[in-house]
Amino acid sequence: MPNITCIGAGYVGGPTMAVIAAKCPEYQVTCVDINQERVDAWRSGEPPIYEPGLRDVVNQCLNRNLFFSSDIPSAIKSADIIFVSVNTPTKDFGEGAGEAANLYYWEKTAREILACSDSSKIVVEKSTVPVRTADAMSRILNSSHANLKFEVLSNPEFLAEGTAIQDLERPDRVLIGGNQSTESGREAVRQLVDIYTHWVDRERILTTDVWSSEMSKLAANAFLAQRISSINSVAAFAEETGADITAVSSAIGMDSRLGPRFLQASVGFGGSCFKKDILNLVYLCRHYNLPEVADYWEQVIKINEFQKHRFVRNILQAMFNNVVDKRIAVFGFAFKAHTGDTRESPAIDICRQLVEEKALLNITDPEALPNARRDLNDLAGRVNCEEDPYKAAENADAIAVLTEWPQFAQLDYQRVFQSMRKPAFVFDGRNILDHQRLFQIGFNVHPLGRPPLSHL
Ligand code: NAD
Ligand code: UGA
Repeated sequence: MPNITCIGAGYVGGPTMAVIAAKCPEYQVTCVDINQERVDAWRSGEPPIYEPGLRDVVNQCLNRNLFFSSDIPSAIKSADIIFVSVNTPTKDFGEGAGEAANLYYWEKTAREILACSDSSKIVVEKSTVPVRTADAMSRILNSSHANLKFEVLSNPEFLAEGTAIQDLERPDRVLIGGNQSTESGREAVRQLVDIYTHWVDRERILTTDVWSSEMSKLAANAFLAQRISSINSVAAFAEETGADITAVSSAIGMDSRLGPRFLQASVGFGGSCFKKDILNLVYLCRHYNLPEVADYWEQVIKINEFQKHRFVRNILQAMFNNVVDKRIAVFGFAFKAHTGDTRESPAIDICRQLVEEKALLNITDPEALPNARRDLNDLAGRVNCEEDPYKAAENADAIAVLTEWPQFAQLDYQRVFQSMRKPAFVFDGRNILDHQRLFQIGFNVHPLGRPPLSHL
């Protein structure tokens, strides 16, 4: 049985390896991590991350051909193919601080692979990395063992959290970058293609050179984030002029050249990758002396910051420019629905800005409360986490919807209204509620990118 090892058992490594193990029963798949707590959780069959459908896929192959371990040297040694999906956060020190990718974990992994290998291997870059990182990895790996050969491939991951399993099982495309100019490079690409053809149509598997593959991943995330900043900038314009952003999104999205997805105005995009990857792109463009291109992409992030700030400003203005000691029920803290992940969640900045205004917050979220407590740990006196949304809204002056969890739209808002202080406000940062109905109940409703419905 060919052996696959994955270094990094996080949001990408865990689900990706579970799906590979499920689809390729003849491969033995081992996922390793330095975080013992994470490894233990995976091994117990209760994944350390919330992802719909994940637990079933894991339990289908756990201890059959899917293993989790913290014994990294053994897993490296026994592997024929090593996926690397460690984190690549933004650098927060020295040259490029705040923009460039911190490749510390990445290089550490390369050196570990080199130190523990006694046979040639294919190394697959799954993490999102700056263009030409595979080249650096290849140079480190091929630096000492004259008799061992390491082929480094780029195979960026395009899954989105909350839909990871369906994205992995039915990907729009699989991208594999490899060295096409040598036989060993072409053979490595063939071996990786063989894994994916177990369940993905060959036409959906694109093979390219390594650099184009790395660049495509950064560009794809930049394009997606750009669409959100574009619609959010139009939402700001709509609010000033009385247009309805939902109608505008529908009208734009019906153009088959544009398509309807990723046109939901929101409190801003979050998640561990969009901001980090765009900052990385901006840094690289500056490095390659393309300041105009760097400025262009940086604007996507600036609009995102503006959108979060604008949402808080709208709350303040509607509530008579004062939220001191007013209680705001925050509906949703995850960066999107169907995940417990709060990395770069817009809710973090919005809650912090509201607390700066001396508001009191009752945060509710079906999956993200443990992370919310950690993220706002220093604000404990003014922030309260509450499982039950009805309790979160009790005696509150306002509700702010920050995550588009469908259950928030199903609540009995008559009951919610009765339990709140008056005048009661709703600020729907995801436009998921029935605004007309809320207005009829008595709420002052402030949607995003649409005129408010106010009794005041
Ligand atoms: P994560 O932080 O959830 O997981 C990374 C894991 O790597 C952690 O558990 C960490 O302990 C482990 N790790 C770090 N250094 C290690 C080492 N030397 N040896 C063993 N384990 C080590 O991160 P993630 O969200 O899975 O993202 C990983 C990469 O994939 C990033 O580059 C990210 O940009 C990219 N990516 C993420 C997503 C996503 O939805 N989260 C999607 C596509 C691509
Ligand atoms: C995103 C990409 O969609 C994935 O293809 C990519 O692999 C991944 O980043 C990555 O590299 O990490 P993810 O961040 O998990 O996936 O989730 P998205 O669905 O892209 O949502 C990102 C943010 O944009 C969320 O905060 C979401 O609420 C927001 N969003 C999304 C909007 O505000 N409006 C929309 O119309 C769509």
